[in-house]
Amino acid sequence: MMDINQACEAFKKILEEQQERIANMNTEKTDFSTKKTVTIGVVDGDGIGPIITKQATRVLEKLLADEIAAGSIAIKYIEGLTIENRMACNQPIPSDVLTQIKTCDVILKGPTTTPHGGTMESANVTMRRELDLYANCRPVSIPEKNIDWMFFRENTEGEYVLGSRGVELRGMAVDFKVTTDAGTKRIARAAFEYAKNNGKTHLSVVTKANIMKKTDGKFTDLCHEIANDYPGITVEDYYIDIMTANLLKEPLREKFQVVLLPNLYGDIITDEAAQLQGGVGTAGSANIGDKYAMFEAIHGSAPRMIERGMGEYANPASMIKAGAMLLRHICRVEAAEKLEKAMDACTVEVFSDGSAATAAEYTDALLELL
Ligand code: IPM
Ligand code: MG
Repeated sequence: MMDINQACEAFKKILEEQQERIANMNTEKTDFSTKKTVTIGVVDGDGIGPIITKQATRVLEKLLADEIAAGSIAIKYIEGLTIENRMACNQPIPSDVLTQIKTCDVILKGPTTTPHGGTMESANVTMRRELDLYANCRPVSIPEKNIDWMFFRENTEGEYVLGSRGVELRGMAVDFKVTTDAGTKRIARAAFEYAKNNGKTHLSVVTKANIMKKTDGKFTDLCHEIANDYPGITVEDYYIDIMTANLLKEPLREKFQVVLLPNLYGDIITDEAAQLQGGVGTAGSANIGDKYAMFEAIHGSAPRMIERGMGEYANPASMIKAGAMLLRHICRVEAAEKLEKAMDACTVEVFSDGSAATAAEYTDALLELL
């Protein structure tokens, strides 16, 4: 518990740190089309993490076998990002694990359990910040319903950047939300570039700028500033509440193509979108920065599935899709397409109640198709 003076001191420190963060934003870019060896780090995580990560790794190992043999791809298995080890070290990502991660170019990461309450930050949030993975790209596609959405969620700011740094005073608690010019412009640029390069003509900017006037107001304004460089793309603003409804509204929702939004709204709405696609177990997620990138399932570590002894029935499709996104990111487009086609063709289903195939059985069937 703080008194007002201590809270002001804490806030001052936060402001100074954030100013320093803006000053040091990384711009060094990795070019994967020319890089001699691309190192993929594999990090298991907790709960169903090791189960589904193992299956996704089998798929990558098969698709990249020749390149692994030739040395143009290296796969590095990194241990220690478990909740037990994180609690024991009292670090969201133990320093030695982070050092290992930073020797890789891209990471395939299983879900990690986030302790709630306390001050321990989520491993995801730490990794996104440490590797400056500012763009969270989450595709949702339901061809039979004419839905093809790509969410661009800002991934390093908003409510997340100081989510573990709020203050408690007598009878109240305060958290902070931060939106910066540089942080907004780079995610907006990434979304518009994606739209332009993929023949998309509609982009929605989603905020709650009527209420969060400073932060979301800035986000909206800067997105429109960047939009000026992309005359072929129609930009519409929506508030997050109505957008949540609109994703359920037919046929209106068919017009959405690229959706650009701050961190927390992006977190929430992409679970909704994934559910429409068939469940969070079907959705992969790319966390992209200029230098590093990390690929993961959209969902968490599913501790309840583990408690029920049903871990083997976790759907690995989310992680395997993340693997396909990883392949695309490192310019292995042919391998990515092969994998996506095989996933579309694979008829084996995984159900978390154990009434169908296990993660391993699904993957066996998928590997047959590769
Ligand atoms: C996600 C997850 C994370 C988030 C959690 C695990 C911290 O929900 O990637 O969407 O809130 O970003
Ligand atoms: Mg989420």
